[in-house]
Amino acid sequence: MTSQTSASDTETSAIAVRAVDLWKIYGEVEHTTVNALAGVSAKFERGHFTAIMGPSGSGKSTLMHCLAGLDQATKGDVWIGNSKVSGLSDRGLTKLRREKVGFVFQQFNLLPTLNAQENILLPLEIAGQKADPEWLDRVITTVGLADRLKHRPAELSGGQQQRVACARALVSRPEVIFADEPTGNLDSRSSSEVLGFLRQSVKEFGQTIIMVTHDPRAASYADRIIFLSDGKVTAELLNPTEELVFDQMKHLDRVAESDGVADSDDVTESDSAADSASELPAPNATPAVKEA
Ligand SMILES: Nc1ncnc2c1ncn2[C@@H]1O[C@H](COP(=O)(O)OP(=O)(O)OP(=O)(O)O)[C@@H](O)[C@H]1O
Ligand SMILES: [Mg+2]
Repeated sequence: MTSQTSASDTETSAIAVRAVDLWKIYGEVEHTTVNALAGVSAKFERGHFTAIMGPSGSGKSTLMHCLAGLDQATKGDVWIGNSKVSGLSDRGLTKLRREKVGFVFQQFNLLPTLNAQENILLPLEIAGQKADPEWLDRVITTVGLADRLKHRPAELSGGQQQRVACARALVSRPEVIFADEPTGNLDSRSSSEVLGFLRQSVKEFGQTIIMVTHDPRAASYADRIIFLSDGKVTAELLNPTEELVFDQMKHLDRVAESDGVADSDDVTESDSAADSASELPAPNATPAVKEA
């Protein structure tokens, strides 16, 4: 079907996930309309780690849910690899999520009656697939869970549980892993372990990760940060450090206070910031700030 195939295969091969002019409008039939997403366009490069930041209510979770096929946008298109997510039937969405997407949630979402290994293998089992033993070994070694595989979630620390969740997301080699506040319930040491592992899976396995976070330290593990405000992309930061993220957040707060953000509803400008994803420097190059 032509609608399932992107116009440019060369470009899509470098882009794992793409949003084109995404809108999510709540309450259209009622009196109060909320534009949770107001024309978001963004490209997420394969093998890159992108963080999505922004104030509470800015649309981060909505964007992630629309990108992952967990929610339908009101308008606009989403592609994962060369599959068009928008417009898929419920059955198509289930298949796409099973085959192309891994999830890591704040609450871990492990099954309490299964041990760590059974939890890691569950998505493959549901899909009727067998794990590649070499890959499984590598993932388990990388997350440092080799001696905890027979433990149930209640017998593991929060950080270990989240590492099980990361291994579960990674074991099917998904096109992209979506993580919504993956360190939100962890102390700083466990957070570092989980973020270090996510970073390593990008570097060593070429995994693509898109992570929503409030935490500048968590975001500093990413290659790039996209900042959302009122449902729009307002800035992006390449090769962030914690200090740069703080500075950028303060700057965006000042702009919002002086009403600059509320007036800047020029979607073309937002597009230009998001489109620069294809011109990203290599990770660890000089940090760069770009505002929409
Ligand atoms: N089902 C819904 N009905 C109406 N409005 C909604 C609904 N879900 C979200 N919203 C609104 O959409 C906007 C974006 O919500 P979203 O949950 O994406 O924000 P967020 O950036 O993830 O916030 P947080 O950091 O608090 O998790 C908010 O104004 C929210 O109130
Ligand atoms: Mg949220």
